[in-house]
Amino acid sequence: MNIIVCRDYEEMSRKAVELVAESLRETPEGLVSFAGGDTPLGTVHTFAEQVNAGAIDISRAHYVSLDEWVGLSDTDEGSCGLFNRVELLGRLEKPFAGVHVINGAAADIEAERQALNDYIAKYGPLTASVLGIGMNGHLGFNEDGIDFESDAHITPLSDVTKRVMCKYFGEKFHPEYGISQGIRQIMAAKRVILIANGAHKAEILSRAVRGEVTNSVPASILQRHPDCYVVADTAAAAGL
Ligand code: PGA
Repeated sequence: MNIIVCRDYEEMSRKAVELVAESLRETPEGLVSFAGGDTPLGTVHTFAEQVNAGAIDISRAHYVSLDEWVGLSDTDEGSCGLFNRVELLGRLEKPFAGVHVINGAAADIEAERQALNDYIAKYGPLTASVLGIGMNGHLGFNEDGIDFESDAHITPLSDVTKRVMCKYFGEKFHPEYGISQGIRQIMAAKRVILIANGAHKAEILSRAVRGEVTNSVPASILQRHPDCYVVADTAAAAGL
């Protein structure tokens, strides 16, 4: 694992974008994915700015979202779909060649799961995957106990994730399941960039990076990825 410690959130965001840009220069027709959530907000904004400025060419690249709360669509506050649409895709003046955003409110969620697998199979493997780390070590909705061989799946949310989720949508929604790219697909990415900021992420980040590789801390599997970057601010990197 390559560990990059950044002064602050802005530097973390810029560094993550640099790594994605480098991947896209090597593979302009690649497939990229950004996690939703608080951590990647600055990263996706910076990415969009650089695309609009002509510094990153995505005209031949495809985009796929990482995960979604089952039951929520891209018009629901706090959904990953809304994050993708408003914070990333809607800001791009020069669009990706193609985009697939998971619809958590699909009537046939099993078909939605299959569609995610199909999209990654068609345009993948991922060229660059930008991930956050959950307070329980999850990557997307690869919750503790996940099978490291999993592809796209629908999974019950862990208690930790359910506690954290109220920061995204308060009491408005109470999702019980998540739909997500699987660990096998993430591990097949040419480059993985795990970003983390804030002191509250320090302990779980240190367990993921320095602890044993175990599915009780899903992000620990990234220790076995051949081109993984951990990009963290000084507070999140305190235990590294
Ligand atoms: P956060 O979420 O970026 O909002 O902290 C991280 C995650 O749960 O993956």
